[in-house]
Amino acid sequence: MSLSKNLLILALMLGVGACATDLVPHPSQTSAQATGQNAAAAERALALAAGGDAAAGKLAYEVCSACHQPSGFGRRDGSYPKLAGQHSTVLIKQIADIRARVRDNPSMHGFVMELRDPSDIANVAAYVEGLCIVPGNGRYSLPDAEEQIARGRQMFARDCADCHQAAGQGNKEKHYPVLAGQHYRYLLRQMQDIRDGFRQNSDPDMVKTIAKYKNDQLQSLSAFLASLETPGQPCETASARK
Ligand code: HEC
Ligand code: HEC
Repeated sequence: MSLSKNLLILALMLGVGACATDLVPHPSQTSAQATGQNAAAAERALALAAGGDAAAGKLAYEVCSACHQPSGFGRRDGSYPKLAGQHSTVLIKQIADIRARVRDNPSMHGFVMELRDPSDIANVAAYVEGLCIVPGNGRYSLPDAEEQIARGRQMFARDCADCHQAAGQGNKEKHYPVLAGQHYRYLLRQMQDIRDGFRQNSDPDMVKTIAKYKNDQLQSLSAFLASLETPGQPCETASARK
């Protein structure tokens, strides 16, 4: 706890230093970032090579379920994303990036640090990928939903489907995330963060694509994606819901 407090203070100091020298890249910050990226890439490669054992991952997932729910459904209000049905390759990248602080997630950092090694990461990703899909994700529900969804569908087909695929199912081999059936508010927040540079680990080609969208367009895209069903096995019994 006190270690992470110290790191927070250090990060704040580095941040303040960077502001003062706004136009000149701060050398120590640049190398810290590069170190983080290298660490994340190395851990990701090891986890991908480890394969992943879903049965072993069930135990490792326990610490995650407090926020993401035992079902991996997250929360409808988008505070916690749906993880169930996400490609293991994507989960592995996000976990490695968050561990190395390449993707900033202070509330979750301590918990992902409890995963012991790359095979633990691979196991938890294999477990989450295979969870059944709880229906009823958070959607856009204002009266103009139909128009918003139609507008989002068009934009998505034009600008996003090359990578994320027509039905938002992503691509496991290429590490493109499933977006279909994710909670509306989470999608909107992520796209704004990606556009505004707060989610630093994002695909640079996507950043260029999203950069030109205004908030109301991101709303339409989120409304469309949240209206789709997440691919996978739907959960059958009420007891699988939580
Ligand atoms: C204290 C609550 C909390 C706990 C515990 C937690 N997470 Fe998270 N997690 C979050 C939040 C909040 C986000 C979204 C952050 C954001 O908005 O960028 C997130 C995001 C993620 C993402 C990125 C999802 C995506 O679609 O990009 C993954 C993967 C993830 N968590 C996996 C895990 C795993 C695995 C564990 C357990 C080892 C875990 N989380 C534990 C709160 C938590
Ligand atoms: C060049 C390929 C590419 C294009 C084009 C692209 N994306 Fe992505 N997208 C990605 C990748 C790769 C990620 C995972 C980011 C990372 O590396 O951490 C991602 C992540 C996301 C996420 C975050 C998902 C999550 O679970 O946190 C959202 C939302 C998203 N993309 C929406 C879009 C939308 C909307 C468009 C079109 C305007 C788009 N993307 C265009 C490749 C792309």
